[in-house]
Amino acid sequence: MPAVVIIGAQWGDEGKGRVVDYHAKNCSIIARYSAGTNAGHTIVNDQGKFSLHLIPAGIFYSDKKCLITHGVVIDPDELIIEINMLKDRSVDVSNLIISNRAHVIMPWHKVIDELEELKRGKNAIGTTKTGTSPAFIDKVSRNGIRIADLLDKTIFEKKLKLLLEDKNNLITKYYGGKPLEYTKILNDYNKAADQIRPFVGDTMAIVQKADDNGEAILLEGAQGSLLDIDSGTYPYVTSAVPSSIAAGACIGVGIGPKSIQKVVGVFKAYQTRVGEGPMPTELKDAIGDKLRNQGIEDGTAEYGTTTGRPRRCGWFDGVLAKYTARLNGMESIALTRLDTLSGFKEIKICTSYNINGFKTKVPPASLEELNSAVPNYEVFQGWDEDVSNARKLSDLPKQARTFINRIEAITSVPIDMISVGPKREQAIILKQIFEENE
Ligand code: GDP
Ligand code: IMO
Ligand code: MG
Repeated sequence: MPAVVIIGAQWGDEGKGRVVDYHAKNCSIIARYSAGTNAGHTIVNDQGKFSLHLIPAGIFYSDKKCLITHGVVIDPDELIIEINMLKDRSVDVSNLIISNRAHVIMPWHKVIDELEELKRGKNAIGTTKTGTSPAFIDKVSRNGIRIADLLDKTIFEKKLKLLLEDKNNLITKYYGGKPLEYTKILNDYNKAADQIRPFVGDTMAIVQKADDNGEAILLEGAQGSLLDIDSGTYPYVTSAVPSSIAAGACIGVGIGPKSIQKVVGVFKAYQTRVGEGPMPTELKDAIGDKLRNQGIEDGTAEYGTTTGRPRRCGWFDGVLAKYTARLNGMESIALTRLDTLSGFKEIKICTSYNINGFKTKVPPASLEELNSAVPNYEVFQGWDEDVSNARKLSDLPKQARTFINRIEAITSVPIDMISVGPKREQAIILKQIFEENE
């Protein structure tokens, strides 16, 4: 029963890794259920600062099972790099289990990610070029290779031969790129298979058993609700199936909706986005630059964890927040990076848009309309105090509390965690997310 989903409620990078790292101590399983190496989750704890792309943020608790489930697409090379990086830094990875049903990112996925972006030209999506979306596209078109196939050398060889011929035709004849070499891929992937073999298991059965036993399960989302293929800012979204919204968690781990006890949405106290696509509250001015660079000293400036690209920054978008709260059936909010807002004279929240002369509180489906949306703001008095040492609500300046209350009112969801810094302990906890610990 007690499975809790933690999802990104904006365009990704809300601080999901940080929030999962905090709550992981209260559960027995942490499962990453979607996306691929396009995700980048940052964790800062006693052991240092870590950027994880595939391995769940719960890996720092050696007594918890950490699963990469069948909803994730896995780049074996990147996985091995991540495992070795953790081992080198004395993090125990013996509790990691990788689904035999997960799909594999192949070299052609990365090549096609690059070539397809080039072909899109000025309409490029700004993908991470990690091959993640092309791997999901092949999964859906039933041309994927799964971990179980990778581990069986005969099957892998057969599938590789068959698929590579088609992919090389596509790469050379359609995109005008260079063909990929069969023997190199075969050798590289066979070698990688041997390295990941000890970690492979049936994650679905593990989660279902834990669910039957009433164990606390934490489902770690990746990306963000507004990057979701159905509900996001299409086509400036990612192609992950299962989706990055809470509903995707059931599909991604193999449990039914009734097993989900709670959905926690992670919001930043403002808005960021990497890559292209509409962002009504984006600030292309000194205030946007200030939001991006506030964290330079503690290493939390707004640059992508996966690609290093500067994140586009803007004020909190209440129209989109209300939308993603409802979309996910959100019952709890973790609000991150409140400390980043210290030192602004005024802070704003967008509460409606003007589109084509009309006022609306609902995000339009049309990309053109969203691109032309002019935000209407409520203006709040800022604060100068450093809030990074706040551990209870009363430690925060009154202006910060007013701001937080307004986000709760707009979303109709209580804020149960306020993060005031990147480190594990830098948080105000108003309510624990697992019932038994309340
Ligand atoms: P994720 O993809 O949602 O896990 O988020 P990322 O790790 O990509 O990006 C979040 C960034 O914000 C990372 O640099 C975190 O260390 C940082 N971070 C998370 N919470 C806080 C916070 O409350 N304050 C500050 N200053 N940084 C935070
Ligand atoms: P985490 O889990 C931020 C964005 C890319 C691009 C679009 C499509 O760290 O929050 P893709 O490579 O997925 O085909 O790119 O989606 N994107 C993310 N942005 N955080 C992420 O993950 C993202 N995953 C994908 O920047 O705009
Ligand atoms: Mg990230």
